[in-house]
Amino acid sequence: MVSRELVPGVSWVGAYDFDRRIFDELVPLPEGTTYNAYLVKGSEKTALIDTVDPTKEYDLISNLVKLGVEKIDYIVINHAEQDHAGSLPMVLEFYPDAQVVTNAKCRDLLIALLHVPADRFILIEDNGILSLGDRTLKFLITPWTHWPETQLTFLVEDRILFSCDLFGFHAATTELFVKDEGWAYRSAKRYYAEIMMPFRNSIKGYVERVRALDPAIIAPSHGPLTKNPKMILDAYADWTSDAVKNEVVIPYVSMHGSTAKMVDHLMGALVSRGIVVKPFNLTKTDTGELAFALVDAATIVIAAPTVLFGPHPVVVSATYLANALRPKTRFAAVIGSYGWGGKTADTITKMLDHVKVEVMPPIMVLGEPDEKTMQALDRLADEILKKHKELNIV
Ligand code: FEO
Repeated sequence: MVSRELVPGVSWVGAYDFDRRIFDELVPLPEGTTYNAYLVKGSEKTALIDTVDPTKEYDLISNLVKLGVEKIDYIVINHAEQDHAGSLPMVLEFYPDAQVVTNAKCRDLLIALLHVPADRFILIEDNGILSLGDRTLKFLITPWTHWPETQLTFLVEDRILFSCDLFGFHAATTELFVKDEGWAYRSAKRYYAEIMMPFRNSIKGYVERVRALDPAIIAPSHGPLTKNPKMILDAYADWTSDAVKNEVVIPYVSMHGSTAKMVDHLMGALVSRGIVVKPFNLTKTDTGELAFALVDAATIVIAAPTVLFGPHPVVVSATYLANALRPKTRFAAVIGSYGWGGKTADTITKMLDHVKVEVMPPIMVLGEPDEKTMQALDRLADEILKKHKELNIV
């Protein structure tokens, strides 16, 4: 590892993880990730902002040793999740005089998850400040910028926001700062969908609070940093707004082709009405791409065959995930096929209890879809178009 300076006296001391392919055993990481930690030297005190995943703790220690850091006064922990706090026990061993600076909720989680001794903490409150001499750290307590204890840290004099999970994205890169903003936008949107979207309403307020700080650099805990905070703040303002797009997302599974024929017909009907359609064959898709598509689609149509008496389990899993992510989707419908009955549409609809959607009547067909089924799908496309027109998004 090689530490890099953001500005004189402030260095990235984190770790790359080019090989990691899944996070929380749930989130695919096609581009790997980084665990960013930062060292801030003031005229009187030195602070480490966050640590790294415990699998990379020697990278962090090596960076600090190579920088000749003999004393750390404060270790600011913005978030207790192990990919940022997991190396804290080792850092505390290396720097026995260091104190952990965080909020009370985060302290409780660090004690529970990492058994950090209770006497190592200094607790801060929202808008609290900590002087490093000629530099000042200001803390913003921002619950649900992943977990309920998560906070942000602002380096006042240099206008650097250490935003932890917020505004970051999973990508292993040796680039310290974003160079390709198109790539960064897409990666950050996927990350927002997977991690932040369930907390859209809380995050909406934090975006404006951060904007008021006028940061010069946003330094998240995953992925490269940005010197163009406006780009990511504007993107978050859009994603967290109530505005939806003229798009229909269709997650589907088909066992013997009947449901696939329905999806195919509905896609054609929607496209011919000027609606963008994003189908996801759930046996092949990357769930991160499905989450990405749900950030601003107006409608979701879930297409499922019936297994025994209910929906195909792969569709159940995707529906559970979509419901947990709480997209701002406005309309939903269920289509699919069955052999001898069952409650597929009813079961799926009941699973959407966290999404504030208007549910349209389902279209479930016995066996192979016939002409009548295709006409029903055309009417569903008409209804979706009507709903989208009412929102003025067509
Ligand atoms: Fe990157 Fe919520 O941890």
